[in-house]
Amino acid sequence: MMTTATDQLTADGRLRHLLTLQGLPRDVLLHILDAAAGFVGLGDGESKKLPLLRGKTVFNLFFESSTRTRTTFEIAAKRLSADVISLNVATSSQSKGESVLDTVQNLEAMDADLFVVRHAASGAAHFIARHTRPHIAVVNAGDGRHAHPTQGLLDMFTIRQFKGDFAPLSVAIVGDVLHSRVARSEIHALRTLGVHDIRVVAPRTLLPAGIEDLGVRVCHDLAAGLQGVDVVMMLRLQNERMKGSLLPSAGEYFKNYGLTPEKLALAAPDAIVMHPGPMNRGVEIDSAVADGPQAVILPQVTFGIAVRMAVMNLLIGGAA
Ligand code: CP
Repeated sequence: MMTTATDQLTADGRLRHLLTLQGLPRDVLLHILDAAAGFVGLGDGESKKLPLLRGKTVFNLFFESSTRTRTTFEIAAKRLSADVISLNVATSSQSKGESVLDTVQNLEAMDADLFVVRHAASGAAHFIARHTRPHIAVVNAGDGRHAHPTQGLLDMFTIRQFKGDFAPLSVAIVGDVLHSRVARSEIHALRTLGVHDIRVVAPRTLLPAGIEDLGVRVCHDLAAGLQGVDVVMMLRLQNERMKGSLLPSAGEYFKNYGLTPEKLALAAPDAIVMHPGPMNRGVEIDSAVADGPQAVILPQVTFGIAVRMAVMNLLIGGAA
């Protein structure tokens, strides 16, 4: 079951859970970005902590692997003075056959206030949100191919920091769109923020049917897709979600869709290069680009802390 905007908003339009960016109102989206701006740089100061979530308990429930999302949620919760527990699913009683719902209900009994959930099944965070007690909020930290809303938000935050206004921008999303929850969240957010020129660039085998219906232009040729764009968002080949062979080889893929300095030169001279991570260097991106002056890949990670602080504060911190 997919999530709709109404599942995550209260009757008066406030954020109750964060499950998807699809249908999330523009004012809510901008409110999160504005709130995140207030948290940027907190990590640079002597005191990295604010008392906004003191007394609250955040559970990180990552049923799928993660480096950036899990860690930045943990840092963000700690900077807001919450108690945060990152459940090690591999050594939890899941391995003895306990269901996700039983796990969640037992953690509820430990006075949880917020669950941050990543799961390989699309709709998992939504399912948990439907079954939690009324005072508990749920944040989707990535569910299958469906959505990764905080990644979409931190990507929008990064674009705004480097490029300002959204409306005049041309954005290319390049790579394995078929399996990418990040691409879906980015497209929904870009559309809501008024970007008209959104291009998805991929071989036919890595594009979902009907992607044009989301308001994007499809390009199968990387050079055409990159022509004059302001933002290049690269995606990893998600081999773990692929059934059967969708590509001749990684080498062939890099030749046709890998972002090299020569290909990047087709974009606007001041274009930024983004990647949600983890990167596969030499598959979708050349190291000369990943480590080059146009890459904003590490700032994306840093901004992720501020964005996740804003989301958690909005959900359980009593922020208006
Ligand atoms: N971008 C992202 O979701 O990275 P992780 O899988 O490391 O969390």
